[in-house]
Amino acid sequence: MEFLRTLRANGLVVRVAVIAAMGGLLFGYDTGVISGALLYIKKDLHTGPLAQESIVSVLLIGAAAGAILSGYLADRISRRNTKILSGTVYVAGAIGCALAVNVPMLIGFRFVLGLAVGTASFVSPMYISEVAPPKARGGLTSFNQLAVTLGIAISYLVNFGLKDVSGNWRWMLGVAVIPGAALAIGMLTVPKTPRWLVEHHRDDEARQVLTRLRAGLPDADVDGEMNDIQCSVREGRQVRVRHLLGRRLRPMLIVGLGLAIFQQFVGVNTVIYYAPTILQQTGLTADKAITQTVSVGVTNVVFTIVAILLLDKVGRRPLLVAGTIGLGVSLAGLAVYFASSTLQHSVPWLALVALLCYIACFAIGLGPVFWLMISEIFPQRIRSKAMSVTTVANWLSNFLISATFLTLTGAITRTGTFILYTGIAVIAVIFFAVRVPETKCRSLEEIQSGIDHDRAAEPETASGHR
Ligand code: BGC
Repeated sequence: MEFLRTLRANGLVVRVAVIAAMGGLLFGYDTGVISGALLYIKKDLHTGPLAQESIVSVLLIGAAAGAILSGYLADRISRRNTKILSGTVYVAGAIGCALAVNVPMLIGFRFVLGLAVGTASFVSPMYISEVAPPKARGGLTSFNQLAVTLGIAISYLVNFGLKDVSGNWRWMLGVAVIPGAALAIGMLTVPKTPRWLVEHHRDDEARQVLTRLRAGLPDADVDGEMNDIQCSVREGRQVRVRHLLGRRLRPMLIVGLGLAIFQQFVGVNTVIYYAPTILQQTGLTADKAITQTVSVGVTNVVFTIVAILLLDKVGRRPLLVAGTIGLGVSLAGLAVYFASSTLQHSVPWLALVALLCYIACFAIGLGPVFWLMISEIFPQRIRSKAMSVTTVANWLSNFLISATFLTLTGAITRTGTFILYTGIAVIAVIFFAVRVPETKCRSLEEIQSGIDHDRAAEPETASGHR
């Protein structure tokens, strides 16, 4: 398999991708840890529902703000240095949360953590996609998504392991210092991306870095790749965020925003945050529900590994479309389950099976493909700004769905909520099949020139893109 051959041929590329992916770990750990920690924060700091909601959701708002800031920083101080900064801010945020003496202080430091998480969430895939060889870019960039899922799984284990320790929530939140520091220190040891270096007129350095990143790869063409990067950087005019709305970039913006919004609107984080609640509603005790939730975390990791092995072989589109169909069917299954008391009595395990199928299908498609594709489809000159815009949309959608799940199930029942998510999954499948291009095995510059070529061939009014 081409992907595994690349891993064996060039250790540097793998090391660099693993260190950069540590950003995903921060993101995942935080997503998973708070539900457990909250149980104890509630008691210790005497928080009501509003304060609890604020403690959870302020991170998502911070992440959106972090994503806005880092679109600028990634261009200005480099992708590498932005990630060093994000690791450092994360360490400060984690220490602040662990030592918080009251709710406002905790909320303040959760916001700081959010800034770091939002930054890491897209600068990590961006960095990896800019150093990876085209034939292994899908798998390598998705190391980041693997780290997200590992972060979630590790947080479940930490919550479980610390459940009887006194002052445990401080440890749960404080342990996050480790991946934060590892990211900041690790990134000091890796190079800046060749694309960023060329953009800053440091072509000789860029060539040296690219030569090291392609050493040992049988079909490496350093001259050709350098040339493509230089052309795309030099040809591109200075672009601003508003240019994303212009005729040339708008179709890709729509693809990026569609992926960002659908990734959250199919309800993945209601499953991550509320899996124990959903399972408890099937009649399980709290203890059993929490134990079974671990299997959701593990399934997420395992199927992300499957995706990593397949993305550069079968392509992004087939996994995206098939995965979203699968998760739609699982959501319909959950809706039917909660509508039928007969099913709930005769096959109570069906809800867990549906949740596991759901997370497996998300993990092979929409989970990794969103972050991968937004790092591939935008031209060099606007990549960081465009990724920042789509990442903000993703965090705000995450906020919206997480904040409304419990209200929604109260208002339109669990069945109604899962029917709604199923409907959204159906629309997502149609959107992906019609608009999302295949980017497998093409260099970032080829993808862009293909898009430009399509644009040039289209009449002024056309907007469809495949
Ligand atoms: C999503 C997160 C989600 C995670 C689950 C990521 O791709 O952006 O919101 O929690 O996948 O694995």
